[in-house]
Amino acid sequence: MNVTHLYCSSCGKEYEARKLVNLCVCGKPLLVAYDLEKAARTFTRESLAGRENSLWRYREVLPIENEKNVLSLGEGMTPLIKADRLAAMLGLSNLYIKDEGVNPTGSFKARGMAVAISMAKELGARKLAVPSAGNAAGALAAYAAKAGLPAFIFMPNDTPKANIVECQQTGAHVTLIDGLITDCGKIIAERKEQEGWFDVSTLKEPYRVEGKKTMGYELGEQLNWELPDMILYPTGGGTGLIGMWKAFDEMERLGWIGSRRPRMVTVQAEGCAPIVKAFAAGASAGADVPDAHTVASGLRVPKAVGDFIMLDILRKSGGTAISVTDSELVAAVKEIGAAEGIFAAPEGAACLPALRTLIKRGEIEKDERIVLFNTGTGVKYLEVFA
Ligand SMILES: Cc1ncc(COP(=O)(O)O)c(C=O)c1O
Ligand SMILES: [Zn+2]
Repeated sequence: MNVTHLYCSSCGKEYEARKLVNLCVCGKPLLVAYDLEKAARTFTRESLAGRENSLWRYREVLPIENEKNVLSLGEGMTPLIKADRLAAMLGLSNLYIKDEGVNPTGSFKARGMAVAISMAKELGARKLAVPSAGNAAGALAAYAAKAGLPAFIFMPNDTPKANIVECQQTGAHVTLIDGLITDCGKIIAERKEQEGWFDVSTLKEPYRVEGKKTMGYELGEQLNWELPDMILYPTGGGTGLIGMWKAFDEMERLGWIGSRRPRMVTVQAEGCAPIVKAFAAGASAGADVPDAHTVASGLRVPKAVGDFIMLDILRKSGGTAISVTDSELVAAVKEIGAAEGIFAAPEGAACLPALRTLIKRGEIEKDERIVLFNTGTGVKYLEVFA
């Protein structure tokens, strides 16, 4: 185990690693620091050949101490698919889709929960709670079941039915709320003390981001350590964006890649685009969204605790933030499906109209390597296509 400590993403305050914690005293997310020199003794690019085909192949930069606490349903090592037919339609030559829909529970949320629930178990959590737009709930329910721990889930009552049913069928306690994910989060914050719940809200504990960062390691490995020129990522809480950026930094310090970084692009829906608005305004915190709405339920996050980290990454990487309409993102599901055979989640499909906007603006060279993140499977959103 190579973890040295936790540190605050905002004020830098350091914390001991082997305790169950949520946010820093300043209210901002905590991140995990590793002794990468020590890790590098066994963790080399070459050492990965022949390791298990899941995110646990990167175990030296994951926080679990005792192997027996690792909960795995086969998460990670998703395919990076060359999307040549879609590329031809767009006039590009190097377009890829990272298909996270093939993860356990059908979304990339499995990565974060696999690591977070393994750690929660290792550090002695007894009950787990999460507010969710849908897919995080399904992933928590699955890994909590695997851990033998009870899961308490709060979701908006218009969450896709598949998300509600999967949680019930994997044994979670599900409460539907007439409100948004932020309202669900408030309920957990109010009751967690009394109920003995450990809050695994995105970025409100330090380990989901560790699971999500493995997407960055995988991109490196799958592209033979030449990172893409641009990554388009459908952004709600932003854990994947923050995680991948952290992975790139670790990979550079391990000597695996150089200092070049992909331009990171946040994609949001017009009905809920706090990061897009803040980026355009030059602000360092997400804009207010009074009436958050979009069928891409994972993007219905009006206030993200890691907003300032995301905005910093977008700017440092030379990236940007783009919003698309619901009719564009729903149409894009069929375009991607018919061109590439991938039935994408509406969130993932939103990357396609965003890419079109960037092409139109002249921000992309024809032969640049572009990666679109399809973060989930369309199978979980049948009512969107009714
Ligand atoms: C399919 C899908 N894509 C994207 C997101 C947004 O992810 P993040 O919170 O990491 O920004 C979610 C979150 O619920 C999701 O379920
Ligand atoms: Zn702090």
